[in-house]
Amino acid sequence: MKAAVMRANNAPLEIEDVSIDDPGPGEVLLATAASGICHSDLHVIEGALPMPPPCVLGHEPAGIVEAVGEGVRDFKAGDHVIGCMTNWCGVCKFCTGGRPYLCLGQFDGRPQGSKSRLSGADGKPILQFANLSSFAEKMLCPERSLVKIRDDMPLDRASLIGCAVTTGLGATLNTVHIPAGSSVVIIGCGGVGLSALQGARIVGAGQIIAVDSQPWKFDLARDLGATDCVDATDGDPVAAVQELTGGGADFVFECIGLVSTVQQAVAMTGRGGTAVLVGIVPIKETVPLSAADIVLQEKKLVGSYMGSNRFRFDMPKYIDFYLDGRLHLDEMISSRIKLDEINDAFDRMRKGEVARQVIVFD
Ligand SMILES: NC(=O)c1ccc[n+]([C@@H]2O[C@H](COP(=O)([O-])OP(=O)(O)OC[C@H]3O[C@@H](n4cnc5c(N)ncnc54)[C@H](O)[C@@H]3O)[C@@H](O)[C@H]2O)c1
Ligand SMILES: [Zn+2]
Ligand SMILES: [Zn+2]
Repeated sequence: MKAAVMRANNAPLEIEDVSIDDPGPGEVLLATAASGICHSDLHVIEGALPMPPPCVLGHEPAGIVEAVGEGVRDFKAGDHVIGCMTNWCGVCKFCTGGRPYLCLGQFDGRPQGSKSRLSGADGKPILQFANLSSFAEKMLCPERSLVKIRDDMPLDRASLIGCAVTTGLGATLNTVHIPAGSSVVIIGCGGVGLSALQGARIVGAGQIIAVDSQPWKFDLARDLGATDCVDATDGDPVAAVQELTGGGADFVFECIGLVSTVQQAVAMTGRGGTAVLVGIVPIKETVPLSAADIVLQEKKLVGSYMGSNRFRFDMPKYIDFYLDGRLHLDEMISSRIKLDEINDAFDRMRKGEVARQVIVFD
C-alpha cells in the first residue's frame, strides 16, 4: 500500500510502498477513506513533539473495516469507523476512574518483540503513530482505537471528528463547564479552534470572540458562531478582548500552541475566569506567566487533552450533531487532496492558508 513516510525531521514526507501486517488478536484492518491533517502531525515533522523516524503520521481518520483479528467483538468487515489516538486499556486508574483519555497503557501497540505492524520495502520496521498512521491507504489498529459510526455519515467529514472536532468540542463540552451566556475567546481558528468555537455556540455562550492572525478566516468564524473577531496583527489582541468583554472573558481557549498566545490567553481571562490550553507548545519550551495575576484574580489555568474524550460515547454524538445541522463540518474543509499532495498541504498549513485539509482515498 502507499503511505507517506517521515524519514527525517524537517524534510518532505516520502510516498512509499509500505507493507502492513495481517490483523493479529484484537486488531482491525481498515481501508482508509479519509484523513484530516492536524497541526500535531506538523509538530512531529518539525521536532516540536518527539517521534523517531521512520514513521507514518496521521491521526484523524475515517475508514471501512476490511478484516478483523481473533477475538474482535465490536467490528466486522464493512463497518464504517473513526479512529482516535486515545485508546484505552480498561483497567488502569484513569480508565476505571472515568477518564480513559488519560489511560496509562495507551500507545503500547503490539507486545515488545512482535512483528511491526508497518514495514518498508527494505523489510525494516516503520513506527506507527498513536496506533493509527492514517497517511496511508490502509490502517491496522487495536479495536480500542476505533468507534463504529452511522453508515449515512459521509466519511470525509467524519474524519475531522477523529481529532480536531473531538479536541475542540470536547474542550468546551467536557473539560470545563461553560454556563449559557458566558463570554468565550477562541485564539486560533484552525480545525481545533473552529471546533472549540462551535462547542461554545452549542453550549449557548453569549459573546464568542475569535482571534487569529489571518483576517480571511473571520467570515468563516462568523458563519460558525463568532460574535466578534480580533485581528492579532492589528494592535494588541489582549487590549481588544478586554475592551470587547469589559475587562476579560469568562473562558479563553488557546488553540495554537505558541508561548506568546498562551500568555495572551491568561491575560485575556477575566477575574474568576478560566484559561484552557489546547494548543501544544513545543515540548522544550516553557511559558513565563505572572503567578500573582493568576492568584489575585483567581484565574484557573487548565490543560485539555484530546477534548477529555470518551470517544466511543462522544464521537457518535458529534455525528448526530452534524446530521441534525448543529455542528458544521462542510465549511471547515478548505480542500480535499490526494495523498501525494501532502507536502504542499503542510506548506499551506504553515502559512495559515487553510482551515482543515482532508486527504481522500479512492
Ligand atoms: N490538546 C490536544 O489534545 C490537541 C489535539 C489536537 C491538536 N492540538 C494542537 O492544537 C493546535 C492547533 O491545531 P490546528 O490543527 O487547529 O492548527 P492550525 O495550524 O490549523 O491552526 C492554527 C491557527 O492559528 C492561527 N495563528 C497562528 N499564529 C497566530 C498568532 N500569533 N496569533 C493568532 N493566530 C495565530 C493560524 O492562522 C491558524 O488559523 C496545535 O498546537 C495542535 O498541535 C492539541
Ligand atoms: Zn490532532
Ligand atoms: Zn487505562
